[in-house]
Amino acid sequence: MAISDVLIVGGGVIGLSIARELHRKGVSQITILERVSIGREASYAAAGMLAPNAENDTHDDFYDLCSASCSMYPEFAAELLDETGVDIELERSGTLYLSFNEEDSSVLNRRYLWQREAGVAVEHLSAEETLELESFVSPDVRESLFYPDDWQVENRKLLTALWRYAKLNGIEIREQTEVRSLITGNGKVIGAKTSGETFFTGSTVLATGAWTSFIKIDDVPVPVNVKPIRGQMISFHPPQQMFSKVVFSPRGYIVPRMDGRVLSGATVEDTGFDRSTTEDGARQLVMAATEIAPSLAGLDIVEHWAGLRPFGVGGLPVLGEMPGYANAFVATAHFRNGILLAPVTAKLICEKIVDEVSSKYLDIFGVESKASSKFSVLFVLVPFLFFSFSG
Ligand code: FAD
Ligand code: GLY
Repeated sequence: MAISDVLIVGGGVIGLSIARELHRKGVSQITILERVSIGREASYAAAGMLAPNAENDTHDDFYDLCSASCSMYPEFAAELLDETGVDIELERSGTLYLSFNEEDSSVLNRRYLWQREAGVAVEHLSAEETLELESFVSPDVRESLFYPDDWQVENRKLLTALWRYAKLNGIEIREQTEVRSLITGNGKVIGAKTSGETFFTGSTVLATGAWTSFIKIDDVPVPVNVKPIRGQMISFHPPQQMFSKVVFSPRGYIVPRMDGRVLSGATVEDTGFDRSTTEDGARQLVMAATEIAPSLAGLDIVEHWAGLRPFGVGGLPVLGEMPGYANAFVATAHFRNGILLAPVTAKLICEKIVDEVSSKYLDIFGVESKASSKFSVLFVLVPFLFFSFSG
């Protein structure tokens, strides 16, 4: 009977990053159980932006967590290149956040004030200065914020790198293996049950994204409330390189990739566990993209895809120990920022498991702090998200 030191349920960016970090810390028997295929859910669908400043409009613990993780990326990318030979295309030319009308400008100016006050690296640019940085931005732009410290990675290459790390280092991966429940003995989680097998383990991590709330401990659902929020994206392949930076508007964003593609995202839809794409989604994404850059109009859509963001109470991550079980952990609900938050999540969870060192973030974003909240909080929030756009 095989017993893992640590069993990770879920093979997205979070599960894979935790597996790598555990291995680097000397854990030898690591197993990842994946319901479908490694790295093909939200982590594959993402835009890869590392945007703590453009994606947050308050200065709080979540913002600090996002910033801390962003600053880990240069080392993370360099190490992964060294370990696996895969370049995850960390692109550090910064992010623009545009305004096109009076309402956009009032949001933008309020942001600028608190961010400047908080010491964020942000520049307030006129329309002319914006067009000097990105000449394909619409001439209708009124002003913009420039964030030199908001970057991007090619998230699909990040998944390839993490997967290769696992293969090169003896981390066992079982695909098409869905965990139904965790089983306990003597007050500990001792294993995970699929429809036909039981996997025994010393410690367990649930990195199960939008599906986390389906898992049970014995017969009781885990006390973690997560639901899927669909994001659709499209991409174009213009004949020439048009942009060097990620460009946001309050209605969407575009992300230029090194291979010449331009990604446009993303819808925010409360449609359950349905990751199909829709014509209406594509139409709205084209509208948002062509508002940012009219020259994208008329280009063929080369890919249209969708993924399910894991949305927890308040849109905040859930990180830490499972209440009542000192050897079971959760790392989920990264919602819009799971690519950004992967390195810090892996660090915090692995320090807890291996070194038994806790962090203030595990208290702030722990299961207990969310378990008392009611699922109804989610349903108060979600109608406002329905088919709104990013920004
Ligand atoms: P997932 O990648 O969904 O992985 C969870 C895995 O667990 C899945 O493979 C699933 O099959 C498996 N699983 C679930 N239940 C079980 C079970 N019972 N047994 C076994 N396996 C199970 N984030 C950013 O930081 N920057 C961005 O620019 C960005 N853009 C995004 C754009 C879109 C359109 C979307 C949809 C998301 C975006 N995100 C972005 C968010 C980011 O993709 C997610 O937060 C992140 O991928 C979550 O990672 P994860 O590993 O928790 O989830
Ligand atoms: N962070 C971008 C998105 O979730 O669409």
